[in-house]
Formats: sequence, structure tokens, C-alpha cells
Amino acid sequence: MREFLLIGIGAGDPDYLTLQAIKAINRVDVFFVLDKRAETAELTRFRRQVCEQFATDRPWRFVTLQDPVRDQGQERYTSVVEDWHDARARLLEQAIRTELEEGQCGALLLWGDPALYDSAMRLMEIIQARGNLALDYRVIPGITSVQALAAGHRIPLNRIGEPVHVTTGRQLAKGFPEDLDAVLVMLDGDLSYRKVMEEDMEIFWGAYLGTEDEILISGPAKDVTPRIEQARLTGRAAKGWIMDTYLLRRTRRSD
Ligand SMILES: C[S@@+](CC[C@H](N)C(=O)[O-])C[C@H]1O[C@@H](n2cnc3c(N)ncnc32)[C@H](O)[C@@H]1O
Repeated sequence: MREFLLIGIGAGDPDYLTLQAIKAINRVDVFFVLDKRAETAELTRFRRQVCEQFATDRPWRFVTLQDPVRDQGQERYTSVVEDWHDARARLLEQAIRTELEEGQCGALLLWGDPALYDSAMRLMEIIQARGNLALDYRVIPGITSVQALAAGHRIPLNRIGEPVHVTTGRQLAKGFPEDLDAVLVMLDGDLSYRKVMEEDMEIFWGAYLGTEDEILISGPAKDVTPRIEQARLTGRAAKGWIMDTYLLRRTRRSD
């Protein structure tokens, strides 16, 4: 049996690592990295730094895998993503078989928390279901970008009794959810708030949260979104990629 750990490392600041994550990192023989784009080169460097700083108890090594490219077809989104997960699971299974010996411990260092818009648990389930490799896995939680956003702006994610709704830009573009006054939005490369913004909405936006490049902008959405859009352009031009998250809500609740 090989052991595998999915370790949440927080969404940007090495200080987000929990004591549990540091203990887990020190049990790992092989760290696997699925590297896909220019942006992940910097994230891969971050992971290596985390290991160099915190994995001090035993020898370890990095195995970098070239992530399969995802078909960008928009129409069959769910099945495209499922196919991509399947391809990634096969790649990871093969790498675990060849790079990790029986009795050793492997890991993926996952940005933020493994439970929030991350496919690693799904990959583990696919590998287990295929039944070719005896693998036991555990999940170590991490600080999400959503928590980093709330801390950066010093706001609770919900007002009194209000639900917390986390969604994607892709979903928001279909319309602001009925019966909600606030949404947290991730994975929004298309500025989907433009499609749903109302006169009285406010926005709490953050990019590169937790890192030395962190940018925070908040205020009435109609006033501050031009600044957000400028900051996105400047950030993307300087670094080649951007990761941003925001809370968009009606200033006055409807209930
Ligand atoms: C694939 S999801 C992974 C989320 C991650 N598991 C988490 O717990 O935050 C990637 C999205 O998370 C958000 N994100 C992750 N890290 C971020 C950061 N440091 N600053 C702002 N947004 C971030 C962005 O919306 C990005 O498009």
C-alpha cells in the first residue's frame, strides 16, 4: 500500500501553512506537481520554497508532471472537465507507480484548501476506482482564498443569518442567484460581475491574496470596478497571470 497526502498549503502566504500541514509535509518522500501554465511556474516555485523551508525531517524529492491540456470547448463543459480529470488521474497513477515505492508517502501540495474548486480528491477517487494501484489517501485542510479575502478586507463572509454562496464567474454570468443578496466569486477571467451588477451593489475584490503582490479594492461596485479592471490589466501585464476573488453584494438586503 502506498500512502498519499493531499496537503492544503493556503492561498499565497507561506504563513498560512497550518501545523498539521507542516507535520504532514515532513512525512512525505515524493512531492508530485502537476504543472500546466506560465502561472503555475510561479506557484510551483512557491511549493518548492515551502518544502525547502519546512520539509526538514527527511530526504524528499519533487516529481513534476506535464498537466494534460484541457479542451477549451464551452458547450460540453462538464464532460470536457471529466475527460480532463480522467487524463490527469491516469498520468498521476502512472507517476505514483513508477516514482513511489510501496510503503512510501507521496503528496500533492494544493493551493488553498483541497476541498474548494480543486480536483485532487476526484483524481484520488478515479485512481482508487480503477483498482490498479493500492493507494490510501488523507486530506489536510488549508486556508482558502475566500478566507484570505475576508481577512484582507476585515469583513465577515456573511451578514447576520445570511447564507454564504461561493460560485464561479461562469455560473455568475448566467445571472445573480435568485433569493440571494451576496455571492463570492472565484475563477472569473471574464469579469462576469459586469453582467449582473446593480446600482446599489458593493464589491470586495482581492488579487494575489496573501502574497507580496496582494491588491485589495472595495467600495460601490459602479465606482470601483474601473479601478479593479485597471489593476487586473496591470497585474496581468507585470506577472503574466492573475488570480482574483471577490464578494459582490447588495448594499441593502432584500429580507
Ligand atoms: C482552481 S481555484 C482554487 C481555489 C483554492 N483551492 C482555494 O482554496 O482558494 C482557483 C481560483 O481561486 C482563487 N484564488 C486562489 N488563490 C488566490 C489568491 N491568492 N488571490 C486571489 N484569488 C485566489 C481565484 O479565483 C482563482 O481563479
